[in-house]
Amino acid sequence: MLLEIPAVLTKEQVKHARQVIDAADWVDGKVTAGPQSARVKENEQLPENSKASREIGDMILEALARSPRFMSAALPNRVFPPLFNRYRGGHAFGLHVDNSIRPITGTPLKIRTDLSATLFLSEPDDYDGGELIVEDTYGLHSVKFPAGHMVLYPSSSLHRVTPVTRGARTSSFFWIQSMIRQDAHRTLLFQMDNAIQSIARDAPGHPSAVELTGIYHNLLRQWAEV
Ligand code: NI
Repeated sequence: MLLEIPAVLTKEQVKHARQVIDAADWVDGKVTAGPQSARVKENEQLPENSKASREIGDMILEALARSPRFMSAALPNRVFPPLFNRYRGGHAFGLHVDNSIRPITGTPLKIRTDLSATLFLSEPDDYDGGELIVEDTYGLHSVKFPAGHMVLYPSSSLHRVTPVTRGARTSSFFWIQSMIRQDAHRTLLFQMDNAIQSIARDAPGHPSAVELTGIYHNLLRQWAEV
């Protein structure tokens, strides 16, 4: 499932994030690419664990923890500390797949990348090109969201970023290890949670809401790894 999480950051938070990261030192994006990706990756990144990266990364993680839509869709177990990239002057990232397992730099931890996230930090009018194209069994999805909005998609998907031919596209990107390994299971739980929320809103106190909530948690108990 490819999903938009709108307004993860407010416009003020985006402005602050851009002030901090635009003033930092950027490096060649090949630093975090595997050998296959490195051949097709042309962009810039903030060094992992740089002060700017950590400050704005923490702000993003706090915002995600307060987002019911993100929590319901991702059912996160571990979230990779957010990274930041910038495409300009024809930069692009050709078709690739993200590494399945990533060590978290500076820790003994690794995460399994179940979900990939891109949080847009530039407005769509600020650049031409730069669409994120994600391939899944339903075909190609072209993604270019307003600043502060995020896309979440299964890390198993092939994807690419089209060349940025005007302006600059700045974003944050990271991965999530979900408590629910299978995308199909996670999607069912997300749909069920949405349905339970609708019943709670439209028919408050309906007795079936409790039963459905019980079923939701029992499915979660069946499938979750924590
Ligand atoms: Ni990627």
